[in-house]
Amino acid sequence: MTTPHPLRLACIGCGARAQTYTALAAHQPERFQIIAAADPMPARVEKIRQISGRADFRGFSNAEALLAAGKLADVVIIATQDNDHYAPCCRALELGYNVLLEKPIATRAAQVLDIERRARKADRRVMVCFVLRFSAFYRKAKEIINSGALGEIVSIQASEGVEPWHQAHSFVRGHWSVVGKSSPMILSKCCHDTDIVHWLVGRRCKRIASFGSLEFFRAERAPAGAPARCTDGCPVGDTCPYNALRYINEKRAFWLESVFDRAQTATPEEITAWLCTSPWGRCVYRCDNDAVDRQVLAMEFEGGVTGTFTMTAFENGRHLEIYGTRGVLKGGETYRKHFGANLVFLPHEGEPVRYSVKAADGGYESHAGGDPGLVNALYDEMTRPPGAPLEAGIDATVHSHMITFAAEEARLTGRTVAIEEFQKALAKGA
Ligand SMILES: NC(=O)c1ccc[n+]([C@@H]2O[C@H](COP(=O)([O-])OP(=O)(O)OC[C@H]3O[C@@H](n4cnc5c(N)ncnc54)[C@H](O)[C@@H]3O)[C@@H](O)[C@H]2O)c1
Repeated sequence: MTTPHPLRLACIGCGARAQTYTALAAHQPERFQIIAAADPMPARVEKIRQISGRADFRGFSNAEALLAAGKLADVVIIATQDNDHYAPCCRALELGYNVLLEKPIATRAAQVLDIERRARKADRRVMVCFVLRFSAFYRKAKEIINSGALGEIVSIQASEGVEPWHQAHSFVRGHWSVVGKSSPMILSKCCHDTDIVHWLVGRRCKRIASFGSLEFFRAERAPAGAPARCTDGCPVGDTCPYNALRYINEKRAFWLESVFDRAQTATPEEITAWLCTSPWGRCVYRCDNDAVDRQVLAMEFEGGVTGTFTMTAFENGRHLEIYGTRGVLKGGETYRKHFGANLVFLPHEGEPVRYSVKAADGGYESHAGGDPGLVNALYDEMTRPPGAPLEAGIDATVHSHMITFAAEEARLTGRTVAIEEFQKALAKGA
């Protein structure tokens, strides 16, 4: 497709995600120009300025200041924390921006529906950062399903193993540990998964039931004598897998980096001092967390397709099993690590077929190629002819969010929730 000009991007929130997307976009100067960014942390704005490589780059101290400057670009990337998606997205739509919006769309179901309504009214495009839709693994799974090899899909079973350290870092000590201040874990962590499940099945979810709780990261599970902080001389520090002092060495790259800007340069003493007051220095059994550490969803899709999804702190990576009338497709992290293939198709009669997929960037990092895939798709999504549906547009992804809100309702009430009625009731109350 020919284009009148590269897409001009402005960025609200200059943290980890924004830096990933803008760095990928900067590699394609014929398609993207990064022209402005906002963040209360000047060093982060500076980082995006450097990534942009532009002398006319404009930096702002927050979302409000950038949006007060009028429409500076074609697309605004909203990559603030979850609770701070809604307000800048509404304002950006009013200003006539198209939006690349980090997931979740918003943390309240009514806000999600409101953004959908506003985007439609403003006739603007909102693309949601469901990077897994653009990853090599899930694209291959979708391709195999679309080939008809499985026959008719009957059931799907998916899981996400959050991994114990990740659970502790994000959902016990970190940003998403207190549900009332953030959002239910099934939304914050697993809206990717509910999105992928209904995208692969190709049908909407009608009814949902859910069970789950916080059982492990609780005060009564604390080892005898464990103090409030790992820096206070814990008697089991040497053997505890959650010892925060691990941030100094093997958990410095990525984990410490994601919450402490000077992670790469700080001395061990400086990190220890930081752990003495930071949430990430707390004993995992003595935090104020209430996010679940396990949850299961049972789903009924249109046409009687059934599905389950399991989220657990105590496994690593995503797994998938899709049962069809002609065969079964299985795959995920365990297959990749131990069986030399990412996906295996097992026809009910005949020989298995193994599939290995390579992420666009050659590894399983960057969400298995989903990050570069998303940035590549951003250009096409934003330059499609008017009215053409987007692959990860708001219309296609609100349902993924409604599944999570309905799941949480089901978990808390013990009821089976009919999603359409649940959504209608929300829309009435909005
Ligand atoms: N798509 C994915 O796979 C994926 C993966 C991880 C995180 N996320 C989501 O991406 C979002 C960002 O995550 P992150 O890890 O980059 O977070 P982050 O904390 O690294 O970055 C958020 C930034 O927003 C800035 N900010 C706060 N208030 C602001 C304001 N008023 N105006 C402008 N900037 C402001 C913060 O200073 C921070 O730099 C979150 O919603 C998160 O859930 C998505």
